[in-house]
Amino acid sequence: MKTAQIRQKFLDFYASKGHTIEPSTSLIPHNDKTLLFVNAGMVPFKDVFSGVEKRPYTRAVSCQRCVRAGGKHNDLENVGYTARHHTFFEMLGNFSFGDYFKREAIKYAWEFLTIELGLPKEKLWVSVFEEDDEAENIWVNEIGFPKNHISRCGAKDNFWQMGDTGPCGPCSEIFYDHGEDIAGGPPGHADEDGDRYIEIWNLVFTQYDKQEDGYLKPLDAPCVDTGMGLERLAAVLQHKNNNYDTDGFKSLIKAIVELTPKDSNIKQDNASVRVVADHIRSTAFMIVDGVIPSNEGRGYVLRRIIRRAIRHGHTIGINKVFFYRLAPVLALELKDAYPELKKVLAIVEKVLKREEQRFAQTLDQGMGILTEAIVQLKGSEIDGTVVFKLYDTYGFPADLTADVAREHNLTIDMTGFEVEMTKQRDRARQAGDFKTTQQGVAISGATEFVGYEQLENASTVRAIVQEGELVESINTGERAIVVLASSSFYAESGGQVGDAGTLTSTTAVFAVDRTQKQKSGAFEHHGVLSEGVLKVGVVMEAKVDKKARKRIARNHSATHLLHAALRTVLGETVAQKGSLVDSEKLRFDFSHDEMIAKSDLDKIESIVNRKILGNTKVHTDVTDIDSAKKKGAMALFGEKYGDTVRVLTMGKDDFSVELCGGTHVNQLGDIGLFRITSEGGVSAGVRRIEAVTGYDAYQFDNHTQDRLSQIAQMTKSSNAQVVEKVAQLIEHQKTLEKQLASFQKQLASNQGDDLVSQAQQVNGIKLLASVVNGVSGKDLRNIADKLKDKLGSAIIVLAVINGKKVSLVAAVTKDLTDKYQAGKILNYVAQQVGGKGGGRADMAQGGGTNPSKIEEALASVKGLI
Ligand code: ALA
Repeated sequence: MKTAQIRQKFLDFYASKGHTIEPSTSLIPHNDKTLLFVNAGMVPFKDVFSGVEKRPYTRAVSCQRCVRAGGKHNDLENVGYTARHHTFFEMLGNFSFGDYFKREAIKYAWEFLTIELGLPKEKLWVSVFEEDDEAENIWVNEIGFPKNHISRCGAKDNFWQMGDTGPCGPCSEIFYDHGEDIAGGPPGHADEDGDRYIEIWNLVFTQYDKQEDGYLKPLDAPCVDTGMGLERLAAVLQHKNNNYDTDGFKSLIKAIVELTPKDSNIKQDNASVRVVADHIRSTAFMIVDGVIPSNEGRGYVLRRIIRRAIRHGHTIGINKVFFYRLAPVLALELKDAYPELKKVLAIVEKVLKREEQRFAQTLDQGMGILTEAIVQLKGSEIDGTVVFKLYDTYGFPADLTADVAREHNLTIDMTGFEVEMTKQRDRARQAGDFKTTQQGVAISGATEFVGYEQLENASTVRAIVQEGELVESINTGERAIVVLASSSFYAESGGQVGDAGTLTSTTAVFAVDRTQKQKSGAFEHHGVLSEGVLKVGVVMEAKVDKKARKRIARNHSATHLLHAALRTVLGETVAQKGSLVDSEKLRFDFSHDEMIAKSDLDKIESIVNRKILGNTKVHTDVTDIDSAKKKGAMALFGEKYGDTVRVLTMGKDDFSVELCGGTHVNQLGDIGLFRITSEGGVSAGVRRIEAVTGYDAYQFDNHTQDRLSQIAQMTKSSNAQVVEKVAQLIEHQKTLEKQLASFQKQLASNQGDDLVSQAQQVNGIKLLASVVNGVSGKDLRNIADKLKDKLGSAIIVLAVINGKKVSLVAAVTKDLTDKYQAGKILNYVAQQVGGKGGGRADMAQGGGTNPSKIEEALASVKGLI
């Protein structure tokens, strides 16, 4: 009988006895903090047993997926070593909630096994709780079960409880005898641990709800909870002594064997093959149910199982990333029973693959260390410090190390391991001596900077600050500041910006956009968690953005060269006033009284580029401040120096010697090219030079070249001749302007004559308000003067339109200025064309920006008279 058929038969049988079929729930227990995983079929019904939850039925049946790894029921270490243990299995169970009790529970079970499935009665064996006469009576007197096949056992075997609290009670177990050619004895006997008598079904007579203080609180009505391992039952019905030989494992085992190298001759009964087959089942379903690998809780159980599987994969010679490839095989195997696996298969594969890729980086190294420790070992126990080192640095969960030890008949020193763990926790606590200030969180204890030599390092997260407060963890998408114990990231100081890059842990990726330093020297890595969950205490790999760092280094070293070149060209009075070095440019402020002549700038730029071409090595000495000063080091503006200082020396004959904590190129040639992009004044006596280096300098030149070519094209010349051509054009323009001016003058005097005739009489006063064409604004005044002469006594308002601009002039002859002022008239008109103006009583000028209103405005002057 195939596994799938057995599953269905069980559900159907109990349905026929009035049980409601409940589908399997997720592996994550709802509303239950006491359990990591659903570890039995009764877990989803926990509150129904205790009476907290009511359901519309009193009988239920299910086939529930379960994980027993971590927590009270933990089979992890037995997997692969026995014929019947799994981290993941399916539990067939029938439940009575205050409905039937022992009698029916036993009778149904007997009927199902011996009639439905037709198991031979003589192959069965039963155990009952030592105080439970009632159960034994039912077996013997009502079922007719032979008394000599019944064992009475103590609480250890026959009192079942879900966890430290919750439903529990005495139980009666049913065993199957796999035959005398297999070693082992019946329950309660000294050799009961063998594989001959296998427990297949546990009937629990749930009578209590265990409280936190240990009190066994009687349930209102006694209940029944039974559990039968589907895999074990399948083994019995398929005449296999080993669960891993049943149909449910066939395709997985085959796929795993196929992944092993041909010449290694690994067979399907290999223990590691079986471990891997078991582990893909538990890990895949944990991921289906929302768990992701992490360093604590469920996530850590998942991580441990995945890593254990990968280690076993390597044991059987699989040297590539392989584990995730088994997920589709499993999904196909269980497509009818658990269609949910197929639906999220892509995610399952991704999570498994990522975890394997992470662990693959340290597995070989860790195994090397462990193998060495085993070779060197005198006794039979692997030292706790080794177990800790493997855990802390190489990501080996302690039980993985124990698993390897066991293969060599060794044990691990868990006490020593725990001591090291406690020490580490204490260290982290001490390092995390924080104070909250009004500005945010002040973190004491400097971060060790390891970024001069290396751009990557691993370090523990000492603190996480979010919105000015310390937090224990952050989630994907959140902005925060991460403080590390040591970092390869440069924290902003001495004018050099802080590094960007990424911090990666086994569960999280934090994208750093800048790094800053607190007073204490603690480095703040500012950024966003782009993946996973990040917690204080985890180890992260800090990786500086190399490209940006290189560009920053070029600019910083070039700043030193520029400083020295400025002193060479402009004199020793040049003193640094400030600087900014980032990945795009450098900016250097220095004391100097006057604008720097173009020829000096050229000299400075050329000196720096010659030093770059000299390509000498940049020397760094760490020394005390006095020796540094003796060497002639220039101390930098605004920097405080400690007991030891770094002295940077560049160029032949110590061209530049500066105290500097920044990061620099190795050889001056690394700078590539240096270009000054601007020079100007910042404040009295302080000048600023901005410059670019490397590829940015090349691009700057490119851009200049492009513009030159454009000008050449526009002037129909060539790059080589463009300067002469532009000079010619300027000359030509000057000539044209002169000609135009004289033409305009002529035109103006002609226009004056025409305009006289346009004057009109208004209330006995001559008014001329008109637009003039073809002249410049400057000419208006002359025209107005001329018109005054010609008209003798008049008010004159003239306008000229030039694009969007209106120029205006108003003039009043002396005889009329008592009554009419040119200034007022002009203002009146100007306001109407969106502008203003004014002047004397006899002559005023102004303008506006709304030419469309000019006719109307001029016409309105009439109203003033
Ligand atoms: N809850 C019982 C067990 O898991 C049936 O064994």
